Amino acid sequence: MRMYDLIVKKRGGEALTKEEIDFFIEGYTKGVIPDYQVSALMMAVYFQGMNMEETLNLTMAMANSGDMLDLSAIHGKKADKHSTGGVGDKTSLVLGPMVAAAGAPVAKMSGRGLGHTGGTIDKLESFPGFSTALTEEQFIKNVNTIHMAIMGQTADLAPADKKLYALRDVTATVDNLSLISSSIMSKKLAAGADVIVLDVKTGSGAFMKKEEDSFALAKAMVDIGNGAGRFTTAVVSDMDQPLGFAVGNALEVKEAIDTLSGNGPADLLELCLELGSHMLAGTGHAPDREAARELLEKTISDGSALKKLAEFVEAQGGDSRAVYDTSLLPQAAYVEEIPSPADGFVAHIEADEVGVASLLLGGGRETKESVIDLSVGLILKKKVGDSVKKGENLAQIYANDRGKMENAANRFLSAYTLRVLPGTEAVDSPVRLEFSDSPVEKRPLIHGIVTGDKGSR
Ligand code: URA
Repeated sequence: MRMYDLIVKKRGGEALTKEEIDFFIEGYTKGVIPDYQVSALMMAVYFQGMNMEETLNLTMAMANSGDMLDLSAIHGKKADKHSTGGVGDKTSLVLGPMVAAAGAPVAKMSGRGLGHTGGTIDKLESFPGFSTALTEEQFIKNVNTIHMAIMGQTADLAPADKKLYALRDVTATVDNLSLISSSIMSKKLAAGADVIVLDVKTGSGAFMKKEEDSFALAKAMVDIGNGAGRFTTAVVSDMDQPLGFAVGNALEVKEAIDTLSGNGPADLLELCLELGSHMLAGTGHAPDREAARELLEKTISDGSALKKLAEFVEAQGGDSRAVYDTSLLPQAAYVEEIPSPADGFVAHIEADEVGVASLLLGGGRETKESVIDLSVGLILKKKVGDSVKKGENLAQIYANDRGKMENAANRFLSAYTLRVLPGTEAVDSPVRLEFSDSPVEKRPLIHGIVTGDKGSR
């Protein structure tokens, strides 16, 4: 078999066979096939696409290119959740303990974040001593004993995807549905869970900004998951504004603790109930989603989910006292308020830009080597549809450096659009004003569910 022939075939719009896909993935992972030939093939795929069979074969080839986690020693069906990523997305920190407290094993592999705020692992490191560097044995033991463990991605998880994604990133070939869905799902399949619930975000802070693209990605990933024999469901959820109020690592951990204590933001709780109900119904720990929701709600009202978080933190070396005393989490030196320049209603929040404001404070990574400041970030006080008075707080900003704080506050303000009545006076500010007397419509939190054989909105 020759790589040249595969490039010609795909360039002409033909489908590649499983043998051909295995050949190029194996050759590329081993370094036998050079970058320039794989780049050419990726560009051909970009223009010609891949059918479902090719996409599934590509996913399996990448999943099998390194370690496949064997979780068979865990009792019962294991559930995992994956989010395509967003601003203020601390869902795993709330959902994991809720689902585990309801009895289902949560075996999760997570990453660190690049950009915006940190990833789940960074956030969890707000608990002094917490580590996700678990061996496979420890990981399995923890899931069997306390029903929950989170492990960092091993270096050898889907190495073909790691190489291919880096290549696509610099050859303008990221943006293809087959390539994105196979890339994400290869890592999920290699991580071993039986039940996979995908949180596919849509909106200004999401990887997929348009709703139709988010549904298409959800459908492609659900088809791959089910095609690979895993029970896979996707929830398309809103990321047109940050989730909850907190953006920034330790601030998000505190918000997760508040939510598990019954005092969290409604959108975050609702999303966790939605995702969790699919996980519990999928693992068979609830007869249906309605019963699953009731079980999950009970884990909050009886305190068992909060207790589960403490057990989980303790089991992974962290100081679990911080679950009950959040002053033990990293604290920023300065806290200031960001006032609104005018009376009006919040019409739009550019979620990405709120993420950038947190990044400017030091809360995210600009490069792989950056060290994150876990204590900094923002607490939003006003979200889309809320009314605000001139001088009232739009947010609180948490910083350790006054210069960075000012920069970040301006960036944050530029993320907001206020709808104000014609003739409204405003102080000079980066906030955008739109003059109108019509009301602001709120977007739904859940845009739809995609299951194996159908999609619903
Ligand atoms: N995230 C991934 O892991 N892969 C892609 O191709 C795009 C987003």
